[in-house]
Amino acid sequence: MILVTGGAGYIGSHTCVELLNAGKDVVVLDNFSNSSRTSLERVQQICRKRLAVVDGDIRDQTMVEKVLNEFGCTAVIHFAGLKSVFDSVTSPLDYYDNNVIGTHRLLRAMQASHVKRIIFSSSATVYGDPKFLPYTEDHPLKPVNPYGQTKFVVEEMLRDLSASDSTWSIGILRYFNPIGAHESGLIGEDPKGVPNNLLPFVAQVAVGRRDRLNVFGGDYDTPDGTGVRDYIHVVDLAQGHVAALASLEQPACIAVNLGTGRGYSVLEVVKAFENASGKPVPYEIRPRRSGDIASCYAATDRAEKYLGGWRAKRNLETMCKDHWRWQSQNPNGYDG
Ligand code: NAD
Ligand code: UD1
Repeated sequence: MILVTGGAGYIGSHTCVELLNAGKDVVVLDNFSNSSRTSLERVQQICRKRLAVVDGDIRDQTMVEKVLNEFGCTAVIHFAGLKSVFDSVTSPLDYYDNNVIGTHRLLRAMQASHVKRIIFSSSATVYGDPKFLPYTEDHPLKPVNPYGQTKFVVEEMLRDLSASDSTWSIGILRYFNPIGAHESGLIGEDPKGVPNNLLPFVAQVAVGRRDRLNVFGGDYDTPDGTGVRDYIHVVDLAQGHVAALASLEQPACIAVNLGTGRGYSVLEVVKAFENASGKPVPYEIRPRRSGDIASCYAATDRAEKYLGGWRAKRNLETMCKDHWRWQSQNPNGYDG
């Protein structure tokens, strides 16, 4: 039995699908602060299999221990947390509370229940400004915002834990830019309010919910002047977790990038999305967004080696097509 914290969210729900398809039993623990129960109903509809759901908070250590013991969990995939860079600047204490204290409580509960296998959702944001590209896992870690700091602190906590007790198996997965949706169109990203990230915004423009995209910066040192990112299909990302679970049979603590190794500019993404959707995406070049960097993409060698040959397979066209299928079938998200 695998405990998936935050399993109702964007990446968690796609990972639940891949886990169930791989024959694993799953219990999701989520407080639904940024998700809908409908996502988990859809997961079960896609897989024609059941999963268990507990409505609770990872900071409730006693409850987490109870879940680990009652369900006989052998490993945890830990997605639960807050993820908006913008909100983390205005409400840093909420971010340290949820992401750092939350993970600490979870690890305490795991230790008490003798469950010592965990996969943690980290982010490429832990690298900070690039000293060189592509980012290898050995690139210096220097996050530049509170959200990134919380990911860095948790990574350090996990490394210290592993150094103190070598029986832990710890996979730290540093995601680049997950986009897209399950090919069924039944599950996908459903941000509350105005999306901060590029793809959800572009998709909402294409579906007519917003007038135009603001492109943040047209004067970067990139081929067309707009920011370059390593977009990865969320299903490839989810499959990376199943691969990591298999690698974690052996005790270790290792950080691995999950990206494609290739970057696309904002304008390339806009064009690909227009092609995939058949809809225009009007845009306007605006000033740079504070804290943004010109380019960001992953070195993928360690992932291929460590995750038993896993690599991202889906291209930008598929990412946009799948994202559009989800958006057009669910123009107002799960509860619209
Ligand atoms: P998401 O917000 O869709 O999912 C997170 C889930 O965790 C939600 O269902 C939310 O309700 C739940 N949750 C939050 N705090 C909780 C708590 N204290 N107790 C129980 N449940 C709680 O986000 P996502 O995009 O699926 O991201 C998952 C993880 O991956 C996060 O840790 C995020 O920081 C990390 N990550 C995401 C991205 C990205 O671009 N989406 C990139 C890098 C890293
Ligand atoms: C952001 C976060 C990062 C997080 C990642 C995935 C910041 C500074 N960084 O990264 O910590 O790990 O999301 O959740 O927020 N863009 C526009 N217009 C928009 C939105 C974005 O032009 O409306 C541009 C950005 O300037 C950037 C690219 O699109 O060049 C991608 O932006 P975004 O999706 O927000 O991801 P990141 O900035 O890479």
